[in-house]
Amino acid sequence: MDFMELAKRRYSCKKYQPDKPVEKDKLDKILAAGQVAPTAKNSQPQRIYVMQSEEALKIVDSLTPCRYGAPLVMVVAYDTTQEFVYPGEKYTSGAEDASIVATHMMLMAAAEGVDSCWLNFFDPDKAAEALKLPKNEKVVLMMDFGYAAEGTRPTPTHEKTKTMEELVSYR
Ligand SMILES: Cc1cc2nc3c(=O)[nH]c(=O)nc-3n(C[C@H](O)[C@H](O)[C@H](O)COP(=O)(O)O)c2cc1C
Repeated sequence: MDFMELAKRRYSCKKYQPDKPVEKDKLDKILAAGQVAPTAKNSQPQRIYVMQSEEALKIVDSLTPCRYGAPLVMVVAYDTTQEFVYPGEKYTSGAEDASIVATHMMLMAAAEGVDSCWLNFFDPDKAAEALKLPKNEKVVLMMDFGYAAEGTRPTPTHEKTKTMEELVSYR
C-alpha cells in the first residue's frame, strides 16, 4: 500500500473486539518496527511494556478509561539515564525518542491491519508506580492494539486537517 494511503487509513480506534487477540507474528513485526526507529544519537532509551495478561490489563484499566476493550496495550517509557541531553542542558530527547518508536509501531500495526489508539489520558507517574518501574524510567504514552469491533468507524474529526497555510511557514 502507498504510504499516504496507509497514513490516511490509520485512525484512532475507540472500540475493540476484546476476544480477538493480536497474533504473535504481527506483535513481533510491530515491535520490530519500533526497534528500527531513529533515536537521538541512536541511544535507544525506549522501554516497552506489553500488557496483555488479565492482571496487566487490570492495571491499565486502573490508570485510564481509554482501553476500549483492546486485548493488548503497550506502555512506552524511556530510561532517563540513556536519553540525549540537548546542548544548553535544558531539554532531553526521551519523550521524542519514545514518540518516534510509538509512531513506527502504530503505522506498522496499520500496515498489518491491526487497529490502535495512542493514549495520554492517564497520569504517567501513577503508571510508573503501578508497573513498579525503576526510578530512572519515565512513562510517555500508552497505546491500545487490537481489532475494531464491528461497525466501529473513525471519529468525524479524523479527516479534518488544518490548512497547509496554518501548519507550515516557508522562510
Ligand atoms: C498524543 C496523543 C494523545 C492521545 N490521547 C488519547 C487518549 O488518551 N484517549 C483517546 O481516546 N484518544 C487519544 N488520542 C487519539 C486522538 O484523539 C486522535 O488521534 C485524534 O482525535 C485524531 O483522530 P485520528 O487518530 O482518528 O485521526 C491521542 C492521540 C495523540 C496523538
